[in-house]
Amino acid sequence: MKMTTIANVEVSRIGLGTWAIGGSEWGQVPDDIAVATCLSAVDRGINLIDTAPIYGRGHAEEIVGKAMRSHGRREAFFIATKAGLEWNEHGVFANSTAPRLRRELEDSLRRLNTDYIDLYQVHWPDTRTPIAEVARVLLEFQRQGKVRALGVSNFSVAQMEEFRSVAPLSSNQPPYNLFEREIDNAVLPWCAAKGVAVLTYSSLCRSLLAGRLQRGMTFNEKDIRHVDPKFQEPRFSQYLTAVERLTRFAKERYQKSVVELAARWVLDRPGVSVALWGARRPDQLDAVSGLSNWSLDSSAMAQIDRIVSESVTDPVGPEYLTPGVREA
Ligand SMILES: NC(=O)c1ccc[n+]([C@@H]2O[C@H](COP(=O)([O-])OP(=O)(O)OC[C@H]3O[C@@H](n4cnc5c(N)ncnc54)[C@H](OP(=O)(O)O)[C@@H]3O)[C@@H](O)[C@H]2O)c1
Repeated sequence: MKMTTIANVEVSRIGLGTWAIGGSEWGQVPDDIAVATCLSAVDRGINLIDTAPIYGRGHAEEIVGKAMRSHGRREAFFIATKAGLEWNEHGVFANSTAPRLRRELEDSLRRLNTDYIDLYQVHWPDTRTPIAEVARVLLEFQRQGKVRALGVSNFSVAQMEEFRSVAPLSSNQPPYNLFEREIDNAVLPWCAAKGVAVLTYSSLCRSLLAGRLQRGMTFNEKDIRHVDPKFQEPRFSQYLTAVERLTRFAKERYQKSVVELAARWVLDRPGVSVALWGARRPDQLDAVSGLSNWSLDSSAMAQIDRIVSESVTDPVGPEYLTPGVREA
């Protein structure tokens, strides 16, 4: 496993994403399989595990806590969790007020069954709370030794600048995959220039690029893909055409699968530190071993761009994931 550093700590360039394991937006995952998935990641050299209170409304963090307990060595894990989203019967809302963050930190430490968090990330910008104020609260957590490094997620350059004027910023976590590249223009170059690590989420485009999906497939109402606009016709077919062509390209040129191509693409983009890989079962991580000892050159990158632009004529981004603004 190739490594990189976040705040001077060695972390794997593939990180396990635990959204699906939480069981609330991707269908249920039995606890023993979810714990086994975390342990299997560590066995494969993946030490970075990304989680959040919102994944399964606390359940994903509990699973990660159970995996750490069962493994026995806390230092084998680099835990990246998040704060700043609240949920109720009306939906999910950004809330990074100081009292909320203080309560969330204690809840996460309890669920993870640990006395420190390696990387504490603000999940989404809260437009009702000044970012400088949020950064001051996270700095307080870091000084208390409860969190080791500070990160953000879904932040613009201006928002990261504001955070960084108050507290050291170690990472940003944006969406990034070969269909969703909004960060190419500003966020990625800025992070590279400032030494801010980038952990990409939806590296497999929420399974579209994993190569398992078929035309005509539908998703359960409780599955996030039921409302994801990429998975609705006529767009779904356009994306699947791109995946079919990428599958042929990966096989003919590299003898690789499309999931390996998609993950390699993210890892080979300048400025990307870690690609998060969402998995619900240990075997979904088998393909990680297929990422070693090859890379995509500029002609392959250009061919991929051609396939995507020719196949997807009505692209759509991941904006539907943006949480609501809470009432004043
Ligand atoms: N900061 C944020 O706002 C934010 C937002 C989204 C995600 N994230 C983080 O990023 C992580 C990853 O992103 P993501 O959850 O959006 O999804 P992703 O990594 O793009 O895709 C994950 C899905 O791909 C499928 N998959 C994975 N490996 C496979 C394999 N080998 N063969 C076939 N299918 C495979 C599985 O879907 P099936 O269900 O079909 O098995 C899995 O649930 C999350 O878990 C979370 O930690 C963060």
